[in-house]
Amino acid sequence: MVEKKLSVWLEGKIIDSDKATVPILTHSLQYGSGIFEGIRVYETSKGVAIFRLGDHIRRFLNSAKVYSMKLNYGFDEITDACIKLVKTNGLASGYVRPFAFYHDTRIGVSTEGKGVSVFIAALPFGDYFDGKHEKGVTCKISSWHRINSSILPVEAKASGNYLNSIISSNEARSVGFDEAILTSGDGYVAEGPGENIFLVKDGKLITPGAGADILMGITRDSIIKIAMNSGIGIEERAVHREELLTADEVFFAGTAAEITHIRRIDSVIINDGVAGPLTKMLAQKYSDAAHGKDPEFMNWLTFV
Ligand SMILES: Cc1ncc(COP(=O)(O)O)c(C=O)c1O
Repeated sequence: MVEKKLSVWLEGKIIDSDKATVPILTHSLQYGSGIFEGIRVYETSKGVAIFRLGDHIRRFLNSAKVYSMKLNYGFDEITDACIKLVKTNGLASGYVRPFAFYHDTRIGVSTEGKGVSVFIAALPFGDYFDGKHEKGVTCKISSWHRINSSILPVEAKASGNYLNSIISSNEARSVGFDEAILTSGDGYVAEGPGENIFLVKDGKLITPGAGADILMGITRDSIIKIAMNSGIGIEERAVHREELLTADEVFFAGTAAEITHIRRIDSVIINDGVAGPLTKMLAQKYSDAAHGKDPEFMNWLTFV
């Protein structure tokens, strides 16, 4: 079977993906100064739809704003470009990755006077955990702490932040776990390297709040809204490490990870290693919303 060549959007033009290249000295490649988004595309009975596109593009623009990064494209242009690219690539489901980067090749960390390019990829994408989505994942509490807002703006989805994600994720994998869980310097639970975290304890749904130095995930927000809509109370607050270990259910929420239950944290088995009832219910409702099966959340879908 001949695979369809993917196109990308670069600075207003749709071109072959292999034509979109940059010099190795590109500022954002050397210094991690890019900002990006990750957005899922789902097949629905009413056609292909991009999930919470507007919210992702708003976060993208805010990430740029935090770094005073001047983009040559606004909300409407980037939104339209994502839709057009998904259509061009004929995706039924997959992932959209808008990325803004400093293209300057001069040596020097300052971005003053340096130009920014915007790029978008749209590609097929499946299970983030390589087939473990259903089975659940094992997690190691990382020896690396989550970066905090006095060091870097954690609410900006910036490339450089991901070094913290990479080192913790690699550490976890190197000792046989699927993923890491990062805590703050004072021992509170923050998030996964690319996922927010929820726990269920005594029937209550709990997730670390904005003060926990987390990326305010759009999936996290979807789960909160779905829970509220289903009459399930939610507590956004500080979560101590031992509270996580003694939780009845724990799950990750993220665009790539979707809703994935955590079956073991370090040596502690959660809910006998299987997804708990609230996790299953929320995962199903999230999937329904993403696949256009829940009339309540149809406004989260942008049809291409
Ligand atoms: C560090 C981090 N936390 C949380 C999330 C979840 O965010 P979202 O649900 O918007 O994908 C992500 C993924 O984008 C992430 O990279």
